[in-house]
Amino acid sequence: MSAGTRRFSTVSNWMIAVAITVGMGSVATAQDDPHGLAKIVGIKGGECRKCHPSEVSAWEKSTHALSAARLVYQGNSKKYADALGISSASLATDSTCANCHSTQQSVAGKVQLGGVSCEKCHGGAKDWVQSHGTYFDGMKFSDLRQLRSDRQQETLEHKQTRIAATSAAGMIRAADLGKLAKNCLDCHMIGDEKLIAAGHKAASSFELVSWSGGEVRHNFFMDQTKNSAAPTAWAADTKLTAADRSRLKFVVGTLAQAEAALRKRAAAKNPAVIPQFGGLAAAANGKLAQITGAAPTAGTGAAVGVLASKLGVLFVLQPTDGKVYNATADQIAEQIKVFVKGHDGSKLGGLDSLIKLTPPHYSQQYKQKYGVK
Ligand code: HEC
Ligand code: HEC
Ligand code: HEC
Ligand code: HEC
Repeated sequence: MSAGTRRFSTVSNWMIAVAITVGMGSVATAQDDPHGLAKIVGIKGGECRKCHPSEVSAWEKSTHALSAARLVYQGNSKKYADALGISSASLATDSTCANCHSTQQSVAGKVQLGGVSCEKCHGGAKDWVQSHGTYFDGMKFSDLRQLRSDRQQETLEHKQTRIAATSAAGMIRAADLGKLAKNCLDCHMIGDEKLIAAGHKAASSFELVSWSGGEVRHNFFMDQTKNSAAPTAWAADTKLTAADRSRLKFVVGTLAQAEAALRKRAAAKNPAVIPQFGGLAAAANGKLAQITGAAPTAGTGAAVGVLASKLGVLFVLQPTDGKVYNATADQIAEQIKVFVKGHDGSKLGGLDSLIKLTPPHYSQQYKQKYGVK
């Protein structure tokens, strides 16, 4: 990680100082806005900082905040861009790379880029930023202490209406584990075969408990001085513990990985790429079998059953690939819903010895910069 890392940090410094501004015409309708630019409130967390200052500070230190630095035409980025026929000029606007390595925002008809920001994980906020933090009609924001106190004034009915409305408006909250995990994997498992053939990783060695528990963690809502092990608003509402949360994440993360690998496998045509996704699906199945052994549940048991019958053919190109694997992925998606509905983690203590093996994950650059071991 020597030369590459150095070049990366130099580039990222100026990138943060001046988010790239590139003309791309105006973004008007949903039709010419497949990446939801119109819903993005802010690429630098600025709109969120007023009420989430510690969450924003934690995020600013993360690799995600710096990730748009890869969208510069040099080194491996140049190699991958060349393989996909992406020009130097369009690298930082081309959605294939930019959609994973950045958040795009339309400002006065121009597209600006920032890191992988709040709204990439929690949903474009334009339609929910106002309502998600309003506990009663006429509530006015003054400071964070008042906000916490206003939280106690909300009626159950208002809360149910607020949560339903913000969800409908596209907000993804801590309780929406299936959606959160799927979002991570949309970026952390790569679908483009040309990109993989050019040398880009097919997938991160992703694991939801550890990868959300290190540099990504920002659970400050109820106490801005303390980064808690589990989301604090969620914990206050559910009365569940950090251990319960980790168990839920461990299972849902693995199911989501199985689903994502099957969908990529379904689309794979390149004989050099097929084994990579076959391998990821098989690995997820192995982990699900371990999970089911340690803490049997209907959802994971069913998922293992569904996957096991496909293991023999995962590695060989079949004429029916798309159909077979997408149908299997649909079944896993169904099991995620069954699992999330039926479990709160409190009875899955059998998983704790497996979870212990997944320590908080930090990137190399984060470790170097902030001295984390
Ligand atoms: C005016 C204050 C305010 C602003 C601005 C604000 N929030 Fe919030 N946010 C809140 C409050 C209050 C809560 C707690 C809601 C609750 O009690 O259910 C919250 C909770 C959240 C949660 C956690 C929800 C959960 O149930 O897990 C997320 C995620 C979130 N906000 C994201 C954002 C993002 C992203 C932005 C910027 C685009 C933003 N917020 C801007 C007040 C605000
Ligand atoms: C990489 C994806 C990702 C990004 C980027 C991200 N979040 Fe989150 N956020 C999550 C996940 C996952 C959780 C649940 C954490 C857990 O399970 O420990 C969460 C939880 C939260 C919570 C609940 C905290 C609590 O104590 O209840 C808030 C508030 C929040 N995020 C706001 C933000 C804001 C504001 C930003 C941008 C500065 C942001 N998030 C960026 C994924 C993300
Ligand atoms: C919009 C795409 C996107 C989403 C969504 C996303 N990530 Fe990432 N993440 C990236 C990219 C791109 C990198 C690599 C950045 C780089 O190295 O320049 C990365 C890097 C990371 C890293 C640092 C890893 C390392 O060793 O360098 C962690 C940890 C991480 N992501 C966790 C998560 C988690 C957990 C979630 C979901 C809650 C998530 N990410 C969602 C795109 C995304
Ligand atoms: C589907 C999401 C996705 C797409 C599309 C994508 N990347 Fe990545 N990229 C990632 C993630 C995630 C990582 C971090 C992988 C890890 O180490 O876990 C990464 C890592 C990288 C790295 C650092 C590692 C290396 O291989 O040197 C570079 C450079 C890079 N991407 C450039 C690009 C370019 C250029 C494009 C477009 C031609 C692109 N990426 C498209 C998600 C994506």
